[in-house]
Amino acid sequence: MADLSVEFCGVRFKNPVVVGSSELTLSAGNMKRCVDAGAGGLVAKTLTDSLAMREQTGNSKWRFLDEQHRVNPGRLPREFSFYGRSGLAEEDPAAWADELRAAVAYAREHEAVVIGSVAGTEPAAWAELAKVVEDTGVPLIEMNFGCPHPSEMVGAKTGMVVGQDPEALSEAVAAAAGAVTVPLIAKLTPQVTDMVQIARRAREAGASAVTLTNRFMGFAVDAENARPYIYGWAGIGGPWVKPLSLRWVSKTHVAMPDLPITGSNGVHDGMDVVEFMMSGAAIVQICSAVMLKGYHYLGQVVREVEQFLDRKGYASPAEIVGLAARAAMSYEQIKALPPERAEIDRDLCIDCGVCQEHCFYNAIGEQGGRYLIGEQCRGCGICSCVCPEAAINLVMTAA
Ligand SMILES: Cc1cc2nc3c(=O)[nH]c(=O)nc-3n(C[C@H](O)[C@H](O)[C@H](O)COP(=O)(O)O)c2cc1C
Repeated sequence: MADLSVEFCGVRFKNPVVVGSSELTLSAGNMKRCVDAGAGGLVAKTLTDSLAMREQTGNSKWRFLDEQHRVNPGRLPREFSFYGRSGLAEEDPAAWADELRAAVAYAREHEAVVIGSVAGTEPAAWAELAKVVEDTGVPLIEMNFGCPHPSEMVGAKTGMVVGQDPEALSEAVAAAAGAVTVPLIAKLTPQVTDMVQIARRAREAGASAVTLTNRFMGFAVDAENARPYIYGWAGIGGPWVKPLSLRWVSKTHVAMPDLPITGSNGVHDGMDVVEFMMSGAAIVQICSAVMLKGYHYLGQVVREVEQFLDRKGYASPAEIVGLAARAAMSYEQIKALPPERAEIDRDLCIDCGVCQEHCFYNAIGEQGGRYLIGEQCRGCGICSCVCPEAAINLVMTAA
């Protein structure tokens, strides 16, 4: 059996599954539930000096939506969306420190890791909050540069507003790095043009690692009632976001292979954890799927990671970090590969013509009711995807 433990910024996690900062970690009691369910770690709800962001949590509104973005109680597909607004930790720093201390002590007894989380409204506040959190005994602190709400909702200059401004982000990281000794993790917003550059700036300013990514903002429409769900704009995410997150995880890993990454935004199950790791994440956060399925679901996610590693013969999670990112070829390299062609398996083909309808390069001809692949085939693969009989294979021809 694979040993599931991983090291992240010098801290040992018993497994790579970490609960993301959210209502799941809103109190010591909630954090204990993450530990009891078997998570390797958890990120505490974000501590802030913004009263507006603290109060915003009292106004939380959420909807799980189905694949058509409709409310569908009790029948949510794997590719659900989570549309919602909440704020940050409701407590002031002193009260929050008490919650954190209790959670840290409990987690230690169970070999789990509590990561602190902060979001200030000016550099000095980022530093002060980080110090308060460090003093509770957490070994790592995440800086929340991704909260999607402050700009649109309460006007606070924190979260995503800072995450989209490389200068402000650098100042905040440098201020916090000057105030604490534990490693800092910059959690970035996906709502930027080039996240690799932002990650680089965070690192240069003193961050030891990055979390990629927080959520997007969206607009989900209740067409029957001609209005948006939950009265307006909100954060949106769900398992369907995963490939967008993986692009930035993989790009950042390739650009800075020694920068530790924690993955977030789009994890539904253990295989998603594996995909984030293969893209370059050393540990992986899960949030809305656990909000949907309950804390106990965490144990299943951990088991799925273990089962995959065992099935494929990997001895530890560290072995898979970055495998897919490193296997990604450039457009030039792909161009230099031997050509591919589609081939029809005559035993399976029913000559329905669906392939011809979908061939936008006009490479499929028809003779006497039989469909044939012609010379113009460039091996794009679309016919093999739409064939109702799975009768078309792609074969690589000799160059
Ligand atoms: C209800 C809710 C509250 C959240 N609160 C925080 C927060 O306080 N701090 C933070 O850094 N991220 C927060 N997040 C973002 C999550 O930690 C996570 O990055 C995001 O949900 C994407 O992961 P997922 O696809 O597993 O849900 C919150 C997300 C949700 C859904």
